[in-house]
Amino acid sequence: MDQNVSPDAILQLGFGFWGSKTLLSAVELGVFTALAEGPKPLPQLAAEFGLHPRSAVDFFDALVALGMLERGDEGYTNTPATAAFLDRNSPRYVGGLLEMANARLYPHWGNLTEALKTGEPQNEAKGGDEDLFGALYGDPERLRQFLQAMTGASLGPAMALAQAFPWKDYSTFVDVGCAQGGLPVQVAKAHPHLTGVGFDLPAVGPIFEQYVSRHGLGDRLTFHAGDFFADDLPSADVLVMGRILHDWSFEQKFELLGKAYDALPDGGALIVYESLIDDDRRTNAFGLLMSLNMLIETKGGFDFTGKDCCGWMTLVGFTETRVEHLAGPNSMVVGIK
Ligand SMILES: C[S@@+](CC[C@H](N)C(=O)[O-])C[C@H]1O[C@@H](n2cnc3c(N)ncnc32)[C@H](O)[C@@H]1O
Repeated sequence: MDQNVSPDAILQLGFGFWGSKTLLSAVELGVFTALAEGPKPLPQLAAEFGLHPRSAVDFFDALVALGMLERGDEGYTNTPATAAFLDRNSPRYVGGLLEMANARLYPHWGNLTEALKTGEPQNEAKGGDEDLFGALYGDPERLRQFLQAMTGASLGPAMALAQAFPWKDYSTFVDVGCAQGGLPVQVAKAHPHLTGVGFDLPAVGPIFEQYVSRHGLGDRLTFHAGDFFADDLPSADVLVMGRILHDWSFEQKFELLGKAYDALPDGGALIVYESLIDDDRRTNAFGLLMSLNMLIETKGGFDFTGKDCCGWMTLVGFTETRVEHLAGPNSMVVGIK
């Protein structure tokens, strides 16, 4: 037996949920938003959030030790990263995703072992006939939280995609399954010559329109209500599917890729972006865990590699395909018709 091996990495991973839940509770409470005003001492923070005297000092010092806060003579402050990404009033706020992780995914992941054994979703759709969206969208608060979470998750890849793709060669685009409109807004802001459509289920319309008009883009971005299994997709020079295919089974992925192909003109482009798993399925743990998240969240969804997606695109008729990294764990696959 190798006496030089250490259990440290195993224990750190096994107790990862301690740090994770501490951060998620801080986001839920709005700690990083409150600290945008400047440093605050412990008694003021404890009073502001109604924390018990037993918890407050350990909670804030744990956030310091986890690298999420700094502590100085005047009290606790945000780090440069938490100021940029976890203050609710920052344009770069990604906490919507963490708010959803806290409210929904954290409890649902408690049933991972059951999902591993049964292959059945462990979320609001558990035991019912509806898919994730049917189960979530009947409740306006869950709908809003989910769509905002999508914006938090898509902001980084959307900003990268606005730069990485040759948009100057095209004039129209459709974001298929656009959610709140995080991606269309970033692309339209960066390229004033483009007009775009957000395609999604009818319940999403008002939330999309409100977000787009808040960004002053109502004249160039419009909403098209539809169901991508029941309806044809609207035509445009470029179609985008961001984190759509991973929600669905192999057969449904194929159906959606075929519909995208049919909606494009010759020379048109389909952009699929996801947290693609590396082709060797060894290194992108986030992509692999996202696929387990689809096990928890959907009836047949799974994540895939860039090579898988290029192969599927070729099968439905795309002539050229390429994979490019976008931001963090996200990459895109581009298919040209
Ligand atoms: C995982 S979210 C991805 C949102 C966004 N593209 C992003 O990257 O942030 C999936 C989106 O697909 C939409 N969707 C689900 N089923 C749909 C259907 N049958 N027809 C149209 N849109 C659908 C959902 O409403 C949701 O906005």
